[in-house]
Amino acid sequence: LLPGIDALQLQVNKTASPKQLPAPGAPLLFGRTFTDHMLKIRWTEQAGWEAPQIEPYGTINLVPSAVVIHYAQSAFEGMKAYKRADGNVTMFRPDMNMKRLNNSAARLALPTFDGEQVIELLKQLIRLDKEWVPEAPGHSLYIRPTLIGTNGTLGVQPPTEALLFVICSPVGPYYPTGFKPVPLYGTTEYIRAAPGGTGAYKLAVNYAPGVVAQKAAASAGYQQNLWLHGPEHYITEVGTMNAFIVFHDADGGLELVTPPLDGMILPGVTRDSVLALARGHAAGARIEGMPVGKKVRVSERPVTMEEVSEASTSGRLVELFGTGTAAVITPVEKIGYQGSDVLIPTGPGGMGPISGPIWKHLTGIQNGLIEHEWNVVV
Ligand code: COI
Repeated sequence: LLPGIDALQLQVNKTASPKQLPAPGAPLLFGRTFTDHMLKIRWTEQAGWEAPQIEPYGTINLVPSAVVIHYAQSAFEGMKAYKRADGNVTMFRPDMNMKRLNNSAARLALPTFDGEQVIELLKQLIRLDKEWVPEAPGHSLYIRPTLIGTNGTLGVQPPTEALLFVICSPVGPYYPTGFKPVPLYGTTEYIRAAPGGTGAYKLAVNYAPGVVAQKAAASAGYQQNLWLHGPEHYITEVGTMNAFIVFHDADGGLELVTPPLDGMILPGVTRDSVLALARGHAAGARIEGMPVGKKVRVSERPVTMEEVSEASTSGRLVELFGTGTAAVITPVEKIGYQGSDVLIPTGPGGMGPISGPIWKHLTGIQNGLIEHEWNVVV
């Protein structure tokens, strides 16, 4: 049996020239600023996982024949750490990201690893760069674990060498001016995922082809694109986020719907958290601000554009929003679809009757105002 990742073997090479921290209050555009250090763990088919290294943030060397450049053996994660009022730093549900990165690795024939060991290494990396975790409301440290195939071989075959690295970026609120519901363009020219494809994995290859769809949405005057699937135009994802739709139920309650994990949908950590909180509320663990006396039914089921469009006209539509680690919750105001706009109701401050209370509760947990087992102390 070849060696797995062993956090006890960590070697730390601290930077001799720490960078200037971002000025408090300065806007932090998403993913532009990086902390002083990075984590690197090499793997080879012969020797397994090597000793983990923390090094100054810097370039990585790849041979031009590296498989990742030619055949896109690249999987990544997006996760966040938060600084609490008491100065403690917590990561949000890191076990979910480790599980998903392992699933992604397996899909690309990249090596898998012990997620517990990497969580321990993430803690050490974040402790070292603790000053970089922003404190201001809505701010966090965005953590980007990435796994790539590095051997220089032009044959299309399982990678024989790989690199798992982690970089960290302090980020401000994704929408610095507050919640502004976004207009989406219902994309029918391109698809994001197909049955048997890679849509359910967080692979680099799922994102590069989405950029032209995003560009087309932007040039048509919309903020992001809405990915539709099949001749029925099933709603699948909102740009790089999972999709949620709320309908009035026949019995006077509300139905919170998200597409099922059918192999085409990314199993988002925020998606899972929203479902868990909404189901908890339905089971009696009340979420402040959620409709009381009104049943909130949670469904993972397919939804077509036709259903949303009819619900918009009939008044059955309550709200529609995207969920993701980067932006947490993004309300939607309309969908450009086949030449006209399907209007989506939006509530005060941009948030709807379900998204508002869920956002408040979820960010309350993430910021440590509400205690929850999802938070892992660094
Ligand atoms: C998200 O959190 O919504 C993402 O998928 C991250 C994005 C920058 C790829």
